[in-house]
Amino acid sequence: MCDHYMEIKEEKDSRWFNVEYVPQDYIFSQEDRPQNLDVPVCDSFPVIDLAKPIRPIEAILKASQEFGFFQVINHGVPEKTMIDAMNVLKEFFNMPSKEAIGYVPHAKGWIYTNNDHTKDGVYLWRENLKHLCHPLEECIQLWPDKPARYQDIIAAYLLEIQKLSLRILEMIGEGLGLEPGYFNDISEVQLLSSNFYPPCPDPSLTLGILAHQDPSFITLVYQGDSTGLQILKDGRWINVGAISDAFIVNIGNQMEVISNGKLRSIDHRVVTSTHETRSSIATFVNPSFDCVIEPAKVLVNESEPSHYKAIQYKEYVHHNNAFGDYTVALQNVIKLES
Ligand code: OGA
Ligand code: NI
Repeated sequence: MCDHYMEIKEEKDSRWFNVEYVPQDYIFSQEDRPQNLDVPVCDSFPVIDLAKPIRPIEAILKASQEFGFFQVINHGVPEKTMIDAMNVLKEFFNMPSKEAIGYVPHAKGWIYTNNDHTKDGVYLWRENLKHLCHPLEECIQLWPDKPARYQDIIAAYLLEIQKLSLRILEMIGEGLGLEPGYFNDISEVQLLSSNFYPPCPDPSLTLGILAHQDPSFITLVYQGDSTGLQILKDGRWINVGAISDAFIVNIGNQMEVISNGKLRSIDHRVVTSTHETRSSIATFVNPSFDCVIEPAKVLVNESEPSHYKAIQYKEYVHHNNAFGDYTVALQNVIKLES
């Protein structure tokens, strides 16, 4: 009995983040470090109630122009579906055995890593799991099968995300003056990227995610009760507060292009904490890979010329090394299987 306990304790203590000091590999250069960590939660961060009788299109448009970010509440996704998804992901990240797997090659259709590094070779203070989600029926069997409930629970979550994201895209489209259903055939809930950010002995040296913009149309993030997400607003980093049953929605680069720059894809990052663990589920609603993205025709005219060149989404991902090319590599796995 006693021996068994010792074994488990040892396994836990040997996890990479149970350290007294930040290992050298995780220390960012001065300029990339979070600098001032003592920033207040932004109280003007847009929170949009989707159950309000008047459709909240103006609020979404305004938030997308001014912040590039907003939170939605009363969005219709059952709380149980959200909590089940968060719990099964926490279970995944808690499985001690998977730490031994390290970087999983693309061949499985999913990627788990606890030492993903940035361009400079510095590691992020997080564990991450990524997989493709479209078409859902083809992707499910390529996802992790431990915990046993993983595939069913995440599929149910993604079906809800599909519905909600189409609703939000439709509202954005209407706000921009695009034809109804503009995004229906060109967008897909393509990639799920889940994160586990453990406590860190010195948050001033590390980052959970480096400042970046998303290559999506829109991204939906569910963060439960956690904090740590920051966005760049008017040159200053501000904290996104925790609303446990909300989704954080942000405008990605491809939506900025469609809107001809009217909506903004902005920098965001995740900072670490000495005492809090952050868990998040990011779902990327992206253009289909073959889709050519350019400003919507109705938004381009003589006085408002196109600010962006047309480019196929696949090419964009490739050239910008978005997601480290994971999506393209993972898509090839799906093509091979089907
Ligand atoms: C992302 C992202 C934020 C988070 O995956 O692109 O910004 O909360 N995630 O993990
Ligand atoms: Ni992001």
